[in-house]
This record gives sequence, structure tokens and C-alpha cells, in this order.
Amino acid sequence: MKVWIPHETGRDLLGELPTDVVVECLADPARLPSDPAGVRFWVPPFLSAGDVTGLLDRLPALEVVQLLSAGADAWVDRVPAGATLCDARGVHDSATAEWVVTAILAHLRGFPAMARAQARRDWAYDEVAPTDELAGKRVLILGAGSIGRAVQARLTPFEVDFTLVARTARPGVGVHGVDELPRLLPDADVVVLLVPLTDRTRGLVDEAFLAAMPDGALLVNAARGPVARTEALVAEARTGRLHAALDVTDPEPLPADHPLWELPNVLLTPHVAGSVRGLLPRAYRLVGAQLRRFVAGEPLENVVTDGY
Ligand code: OXD
Repeated sequence: MKVWIPHETGRDLLGELPTDVVVECLADPARLPSDPAGVRFWVPPFLSAGDVTGLLDRLPALEVVQLLSAGADAWVDRVPAGATLCDARGVHDSATAEWVVTAILAHLRGFPAMARAQARRDWAYDEVAPTDELAGKRVLILGAGSIGRAVQARLTPFEVDFTLVARTARPGVGVHGVDELPRLLPDADVVVLLVPLTDRTRGLVDEAFLAAMPDGALLVNAARGPVARTEALVAEARTGRLHAALDVTDPEPLPADHPLWELPNVLLTPHVAGSVRGLLPRAYRLVGAQLRRFVAGEPLENVVTDGY
């Protein structure tokens, strides 16, 4: 059985595989390692989209697309009927949660302004102090999946109050439904976006959503750029009423002349939340386990259904 993976180093990280599994490396879609006709299990490059999804048309025997990303939005509706799409749920929990905690603390404790002052060799105490703080904040996490829970676990010692929101309410476990957002947002000092990009979440953070957030609140986007309407966000951040920490943007990458770059109350990182050194060992452990399940005819994990 032929498998394509995107990293040479991945071979050693897969663990033991049945002898009839042939693993080949496809790092560059312009250079296929062999005849694509026999590929049954494909692991595309991390966060790939666009021309890489175009390869799907050349893989007639494809049965599984196993992503290395938690988000599957670039692949949903493109994977042919008959093939199963699986995401890397669980692989990115710790890294993304670390980014969220870092972004919140960096923003509230004024690190971006202090880094700018350092670059000027300016001991800018009077300019930066006193800073805001995390203790006592009300944090709303939109997306109560494994990453949302990882964020909650890491923020718990910081003396914050949580509100968790998911597609539908889960009353027994304290999770609210998205329909409750208009009531919940006015009480959130920090809103963390961790929802997948689907037809229902595209543009969810619109003018009304942002207007419902209280003055001085922080919007943190570790989901996908199009979950938030960029123009609405720029408008609120430009007045200084709201702040933002964004790992993802729409458009992405952000063009050099985009207004978001210039807003001092917007912290931008280039979609790095999941990009840590431990990513490949964790991701290929999942891929190896999925391959063994597939060969044994067992059900796969992390199957993407309805965009989730
Ligand atoms: C992911 C990401 O989807 O890092 O895994 O954005």
C-alpha cells in the first residue's frame, strides 16, 4: 500500500508499520515521488491549501487524507467522495494553548510596547506602567473542543473566570451555545476564538459581535482569519475601543500595506501557534497510529464530518 508523507524525517517517527506499507516523501507538489495512481493514504504538507489540494484530482485510488493540522477548512468539500478526511485533533492542543496564554499575557502586561521601547533603548517606565493584568479577568472561550479545554487548563491558575461557548449548549458541563453570545459577550474581558472555519463560523465575529464586547476588551484569534470580519475589527481597533491578538488574519499572509500592521493595540504573529519543535513527533505519532488502524481495517480517529 502506497503512502505519501510530506517530511523525510516523518519516516522514523511513524513507528512500526506493516511490511506491505510503502512510505514515500512528497514535500513539493511539483515533484511527485512516483506514479500518483497508487496512493491510498496521503498526508499533505502542514497548513497546505490551494494548489496542493489540486493534487487530489491526480490520486484516483485515494482512501484517506490525513492532515497534520487541527483545522480542515481548506480540505472540506474538496476531498472526493469515497475518501475519508481526518484532522490532527489533539496534536496542537499544548502548542496552541501556549500561544493563547502568551498572547493574552503579552498584551495585558504591555510587552509589545516595551519591546518597541527596547528597540529605541528607552527605559520607558512612565510610558508603559502601570500595565493591565490577567488576574480577575473574565475569559470567554469560543470553541469548547480539545484546544479550548487546554487553554482553560493553562489559564486556571491565573485567577480568571471562564465562560465556555460551543456550537450547541452542553448544560451539564457548563458550556453555553453560540446563540447565547449576545448575552455573554458584554461580560467578557478577553474573547478567545478557537472554532473551526465552517459556513456557520465564517464572519461570526462581525460588527454586532464586536459591538457587544465591552470597552477595552481583547479579542484573541487562534482559529482562522475569516472567522472575524477584518474591516469590522480594524474599525474597532482603530478607535482604541477594542484590542486584538491575532495569529491568523484575513487575508493571510497579511499584505505589507494592510492597516492592521499599524495599530499599536493589535498584536500580530504569522500563524505560528501550532508551529513548535514538538509538532512533527506528535503529528507523526498520530499518522502512524492511523496507518496501523487503516491497514487493520479498524475505524480511523479524527474523521472530519460537517467541517468538524
Ligand atoms: C492548525 C493550525 O490548524 O495550526 O493546526 O492552524
